[in-house]
Amino acid sequence: MSKITDLHAIEILDSRGQPTIKTTCTLEHGVRASASIPSGRSTGAAEALELRDNDAARYQGQGCKKAVDHVNKEILTSLRDRDFSTQQELDETLIALDGTDNKRRLGANAILSVSISFARAVAKSQEEPLYLAFSRLIKRQVERFPRLTINLFSGGRHAGKQIPIQDVLIVPASPESIDQSLVMMNNIYQAAAEIGLQRYGMRLLTADEGGLAPPFPNAEAMLEAAVTAIDNAGYKPGRDAHLALDVASSHFYRDGSYYLDETPISSSMMIERLEAWCSSYPIVSIEDGLSEDDWDYWPHLQEALGSRILVLGDDLLCTNPERIKKAVAARACNALLLKVNQIGTLSEAARAYGMARDAGWMVTISVRSGETEDDWAADLAVGWSGDQFKNGSITQSERLAKYNRLLEIENLTPMKIASWPN
Ligand code: PGA
Ligand code: ZN
Repeated sequence: MSKITDLHAIEILDSRGQPTIKTTCTLEHGVRASASIPSGRSTGAAEALELRDNDAARYQGQGCKKAVDHVNKEILTSLRDRDFSTQQELDETLIALDGTDNKRRLGANAILSVSISFARAVAKSQEEPLYLAFSRLIKRQVERFPRLTINLFSGGRHAGKQIPIQDVLIVPASPESIDQSLVMMNNIYQAAAEIGLQRYGMRLLTADEGGLAPPFPNAEAMLEAAVTAIDNAGYKPGRDAHLALDVASSHFYRDGSYYLDETPISSSMMIERLEAWCSSYPIVSIEDGLSEDDWDYWPHLQEALGSRILVLGDDLLCTNPERIKKAVAARACNALLLKVNQIGTLSEAARAYGMARDAGWMVTISVRSGETEDDWAADLAVGWSGDQFKNGSITQSERLAKYNRLLEIENLTPMKIASWPN
C-alpha cells in the first residue's frame, strides 16, 4: 500500500527549449520522487493528447501551465491521502478522473507525470532500482540489456526535412556490453562527421536527437554514407554493425502516394523500395516503412520483409492496445515501438507491451525527440526487456542521461545484450 500525500508539478523546458511538465510525488513517511515527461514532433495521429496552453504569448502556445494546474489542483485533490496497492489502481483512477478516450481533458502529459513519479516513489520507498520495479509491472525477469539502436543521420521533421526519411541508426551487432556498444558508436559517429565534412563541408550539423544532418541528395546517399562510416571506423558493415531505419513515412504520404523523391510513388512501389534497400544495405529493422493510414499495405510489407527484419510500427500503433489488436489481426507488422507518452500511463503501456509479446512480436523501447535529463526510459528499456532501445544519438545530455544510466546499471549488474537475431 502506498499513500500519496502530495503531488507538485512545475513547468520545465525540454531539449528543444519547449515547455514540458515535471511532477514530484510524495508518499506517506516522506519518500518523494520526480518524473519529467518527453514530447514528440514526429507524432502519430492516434497518440494521447499532450495538453498545451494555446496561449500565443508564451512559447508559441506550447506552454504547459494548464497541465501543471491539473496536477496541482484536480489530480492532487482527488488522490491525496488515498492508498494505492498497485500501479494499475493508480493509473485506472487517473484514467477515470480524466474521463476521455485520449486524455484530452487533464492531458496525457499531466497524467503520465503522476503515473511515473508515483512508480519511482514506490520503488524508492521499497529501496529497489527503478528497472526492477518496472519489471514487476509486466511480471518478467530482467535477464539482459536491449541492443542499442543509435541515431547516426537524421532527416524529416527532426532535421529541417532536407531528405524525407527520418533516421538511420547504427545497431552494434553482438557487443559484449553497453560500454562496448557506445565505444563502437563513438567511432562510427566520428567517422560519419568526417564524411559530412569532406562531402558537404559540414562536420557537426545536428538534428533534434543529436543525429548528423548533412544535406544528402536522397535516402540512398544517407544509407551509403552510414555504411561507409562503419567501414571507415574499422568495422565490417553487416558483421560488426547493422543499420536500422525510422522512415517515418506518415509524414511524406499524401493522397495515397509517398513523396520520397520528386516523383510520388504508390504503396507497392514504396515496399519495393524498402526491399531494395534491404538487399543493398545491412538493414535489420525498419520503423514506419509505410504511413499510419496505409493499413491495406502493411500486411504486404510484413509479408515481403517480416521474415528478415523487424517491421516496426510506431505511428501505426501509437502504443495503443486497440491499434495493436488490429495490427495483430491483420498481420501488419512484427514489432512494437513503445513510447509510454503515446498512451499516457504505465499500465496501459504495459498492456500494449503484453499484447505485442503475446503475438510473438519484438519490442523496441523508445524515447521522444523532445527529451529531458530524466533517465526513467533507460530503466524502462531494461525493466521491460526491450529487444532494442532507441534513444537518439550519443551526443546531447538528454540522450546521455539514459546511456549513462545504462552504464550505471551495467556497472552494478552486468548482463548479456539482446543480440541480432534474437
Ligand atoms: P518523435 O519521433 O519523438 O518526434 O515523435 C520519434 C520517432 O518517430 O520515432
Ligand atoms: Zn518513429
